[in-house]
Amino acid sequence: MMSFRSILAGTGGYLPERIVTNDELSRTIDTSDDWIRERTGIRQRHFAATHETTAFMGVAAARQALNAAGATAADVDAILLATSTPDQAFPATALRIQAALGVTRGFGFDLSAACAGFIYALSMADSLIKSGQARGVLVIGSEVYSRILNWQDRGTCVLFGDGAGAVFLRAVPVSEAGDKGVLSTHIHAQGTLGDILYVDGAVGQPDKPGHLVMNGREVFRHAVTRLAEAVDEALSANGLTRADVDWLVPHQANLRIIDGMGRKLNLPPERVVITVDRHANTSAASVPLALAEACTDGRVKPGDLVLLEALGGGLTWGSALVRF
Ligand code: UT7
Repeated sequence: MMSFRSILAGTGGYLPERIVTNDELSRTIDTSDDWIRERTGIRQRHFAATHETTAFMGVAAARQALNAAGATAADVDAILLATSTPDQAFPATALRIQAALGVTRGFGFDLSAACAGFIYALSMADSLIKSGQARGVLVIGSEVYSRILNWQDRGTCVLFGDGAGAVFLRAVPVSEAGDKGVLSTHIHAQGTLGDILYVDGAVGQPDKPGHLVMNGREVFRHAVTRLAEAVDEALSANGLTRADVDWLVPHQANLRIIDGMGRKLNLPPERVVITVDRHANTSAASVPLALAEACTDGRVKPGDLVLLEALGGGLTWGSALVRF
């Protein structure tokens, strides 16, 4: 039986039109541009208008990823959407996206792993390709956290933004892939830590649409240790060292965490892709949005080794190593 590697053939992103600065937030919330920038690195975020739903933004990002890959709807076997803010409980928002893209076969589903969702979805997509169940997979992260923020809680509502990112994975026979493609993914979860970052409601709960709740300090503490472990795990699984990494594309939650990871890898700051200053934390969309930016502007070049990592509510975390 022929074995396949997942090649990351194209990337795409979408950000809502409306940009909201820290100063604008500080007009209605007891906060300041100084506090937000100093603690997080965030300068602004995008907030979705009513029509900019998770599906709408996911479709836009997916179209770009398909175009960049030179692929069409006919090449899509599966659509995996990482989101914590689906448009409806069901059908899966992935299938709204399937319909909008004009994909008429294959399968799709939503995957809930909060801010680590894209890494989880990439891992599942890679497994589908390696096992021969799909040859073309759209992996999307799309989120509208502005709809689940508690505007009375200044410790969380200033941290998040909306957006979508996508990649198209193509199955290529290992014999043709050379050293390119998804080299590894590692995903982890610890459900006992579910109460340090969660949404206190859901469609299935009476009178409780749900708002995001976070113990920032606890999440910060876990992020620093778990992500450092995840990076070491990814490198050692591939017999690679920190010096081999060309680009770090981290989850964009906090510049202080990102800087710490860059230092750990001994990467100069210009080798770390940063979008948190302009996008804030877009949860499952943050890694594919940052990756799309660095691929589209030409920073990531063929042959480059890119390390992706993320951590989110669950607790969930993981990493992926990709050779372009
Ligand atoms: O995407 C999932 C992963 N998420 C993360 O990785 C988030 C990890 N956590 C963090 O990034 C940080 O913990 C935060 C940015 C959320 C908070 O930073 P911190 O340095 O841990 O601040 P803190 O929550 O300990 O709050 C420090 C002070 C408090 O005042 P007192 O008690 O010292 O007087 C807060 O009340 O800052 C105050 N504060 C604010 N002040 C102005 C909290 N939020 C704000 C605000 N504006 N928006």
